[in-house]
Amino acid sequence: MFAKKTVKDVDVRGKRVLVRVDFNVPIAEGEVTDDTRIRAALPTIRYLIDHGARVVLMSHLGRPSGAPDPQYTLKPARRTLQRLVGRNVAFSPEIVGPEAEEAVGRMIDGEILMLENVRFHPGEKKNDPGFAQQLASLGDIYVNDAFGAAHRAHASTAGVAEYLPAYAGMLLTREVDTLNGILIDPDRPFVAILGGSKVSDKFGVIDKLIECCDTLLIGGGMAFTFLVAKGLEVGDSIVEADWVEPAKQMLEKARTAGVDLVLPTDFVVATEIVDDADTRIVGREEIPVGMMGLDIGPSTIELYKGDIASARTIFWNGPMGVFEKKPFETGTREIAVAVGRNNRAQSIIGGGDSAAALRKFGLDDRVTFVSTGGGASMKLLEGAALPGVDALQDR
Ligand code: 3PG
Repeated sequence: MFAKKTVKDVDVRGKRVLVRVDFNVPIAEGEVTDDTRIRAALPTIRYLIDHGARVVLMSHLGRPSGAPDPQYTLKPARRTLQRLVGRNVAFSPEIVGPEAEEAVGRMIDGEILMLENVRFHPGEKKNDPGFAQQLASLGDIYVNDAFGAAHRAHASTAGVAEYLPAYAGMLLTREVDTLNGILIDPDRPFVAILGGSKVSDKFGVIDKLIECCDTLLIGGGMAFTFLVAKGLEVGDSIVEADWVEPAKQMLEKARTAGVDLVLPTDFVVATEIVDDADTRIVGREEIPVGMMGLDIGPSTIELYKGDIASARTIFWNGPMGVFEKKPFETGTREIAVAVGRNNRAQSIIGGGDSAAALRKFGLDDRVTFVSTGGGASMKLLEGAALPGVDALQDR
């Protein structure tokens, strides 16, 4: 049960509600190309306007250098929100200061105002108290619904909560509850699928999942560091030499815990990561020098599908191969199909690449929950603090 107060615990009518959302969305030629994160914030925004609040939205977009930069303006996100919410969204090019204050002062109940990208201000990433206070002066209460940025201790995600009564939004609440749920009381068998190129990025999560899952299926580039830890040669595949020893310890930890940590048995290999790559399928002990494993092979897919089909809880993070390139997309697509097909399981997808893969294959509506936070969901699962959650009021 979520231990923080939520937006439903406070009377918001007539109040200026400063809401941190994560509208860090992909933009091409001035238009939002994937509105998932904006849609995910709608329940909180709609709840607030329906309850007569004056909604002041703040978000970051991209990684500007602490100064205004037109390529990172939130204007495209504002247009998308306007269309989705079906009403006008006012926009303040100033994040704080007299013009922003005036814009907020003009609002009436049920209106929405979006501030420009908070990372245009140098105080945001430094979590500068002065900037946090200026932001706080634009609201009567603060709501954090930016789960995707909850692992950042920035002024708009954490600092501002020092100066205003601070509540969780509905998306943030659902994310934390869902992800904690699989750690605390998953239906069994619990099958976790982890991919991506580096063990180093996922080590904390692997460590934690071994404590609570029954089967851990490994794919993506990180598989090769584990195979080297088992004494295999992997040709020119990606290996993190410094992580071979920790990978050995992880294999041992899984063995002791009775968790089935499964590594791929075959791979799609090639010499180059290109769209027209010449590929071969080889067993994991036969990867030739000069070639790289770039996707899991057909035997591995069949093996993993069997585990996925019998699971009652599934957690998946990270692609099985270089799925952005056609010759190496099959493993990721087939795993996505298998996860989507198991409708008896609760299937939870960590954000980032696996969420993008699901969308690419049109399967995102086949799973129970897709997290909007790549980095944040990994941090939560490895048991790290989330400053954006910690800063909120306890129940
Ligand atoms: C994300 O896309 O993971 C979040 O919006 C956080 O963005 P950041 O990594 O630039 O802080």
